Amino acid sequence: MSDTLLVTGASGHLGRLVLDALLASGKVAPQNIIATSRDTAKLDAYAARGITVRAADFDDPSSLDEAFAGASRILLVSTDALDRPGRRLAQHKAAVAAAQRAGARHILYTSMPQPDDSRVTFAPDHLGTEDAIKATGIAYTILRNGWYAENLFMALPQALRTGVWHSATGDGRIAHVTRADIADALAGALLNAGSDSRTYTLTGPKAYTADEIAAVVSETTGKPLKVMHVSDAELAAGLKQAGLPEAVIPTVVSFDTNTRDGKIAMVTNDIERLSGHAPMAFEEFVKANRAAFIG
Ligand SMILES: NC(=O)c1ccc[n+]([C@@H]2O[C@H](COP(=O)([O-])OP(=O)(O)OC[C@H]3O[C@@H](n4cnc5c(N)ncnc54)[C@H](OP(=O)(O)O)[C@@H]3O)[C@@H](O)[C@H]2O)c1
Repeated sequence: MSDTLLVTGASGHLGRLVLDALLASGKVAPQNIIATSRDTAKLDAYAARGITVRAADFDDPSSLDEAFAGASRILLVSTDALDRPGRRLAQHKAAVAAAQRAGARHILYTSMPQPDDSRVTFAPDHLGTEDAIKATGIAYTILRNGWYAENLFMALPQALRTGVWHSATGDGRIAHVTRADIADALAGALLNAGSDSRTYTLTGPKAYTADEIAAVVSETTGKPLKVMHVSDAELAAGLKQAGLPEAVIPTVVSFDTNTRDGKIAMVTNDIERLSGHAPMAFEEFVKANRAAFIG
């Protein structure tokens, strides 16, 4: 392949896995890959393997022209800038505009499931970015990433210590998906991106309620775990008591509201379509990460 593929946010968890998947594919030479990050030193190992590493900060649009120069397919990894409403959308719009100025022929973006019908506080960032990409007229691939299975490392180790997991998700379901499976799908999308525009929703193979997740985790770790079903307000109060910064509590609670309302229950086969392999079963993920859950 002679097209040059670019991955932003390449030092993040997901960005690194995409680079690994591109290299492992053998379908693109390292010299046809550009990896960008705010901190290029974090990508020294990839530079040593022949990937071109450049500095790019979406908060500094002037850094992006040089960073994106010569790239024909650009994967924009959404940032984690949730500190101030509007900041992340502004970052993403700056990146989309820079991709257009650079003459990219295909823009790919990591969005979230059904951002047009979601209870998650930051869904408008993703919808706004999707719209900005569509407005360029450039071919695109929107990759609506389901919730990472790894997100469960945030709440479940503590829940396993007490035996109780507070959840406001009710009977709502999530088909958690590993970052590695998402990265394989993103790499497949980058490698095959052409003149068509498509939107995919990347999920695990099966959706589970919190009670079902707790049962799998309890059985695999050998530790008791029960779900205490709480209201949004009770969850918010518990998070505050646990010391979570007040500014992030509405977002964390909105994940549960969104799940309870059935907005993240979808299961697709898009991971397999894009990566060529089925996503990891949730039970396998828990088995492979037993130690991380026990903490
Ligand atoms: N689906 C889910 O469950 C889920 C969960 C958490 C996050 N996410 C989203 O998915 C993204 C990737 O996940 P991850 O696990 O790899 O997150 P991560 O390890 O926390 O990485 C954060 C990412 O944001 C990038 N970033 C932050 N500020 C930036 C800026 N000013 N300009 C350009 N890039 C910037 C970082 O790039 P550099 O540091 O290399 O510059 C890095 O790629 C996150 O940023 C977030 O938008 C999804």
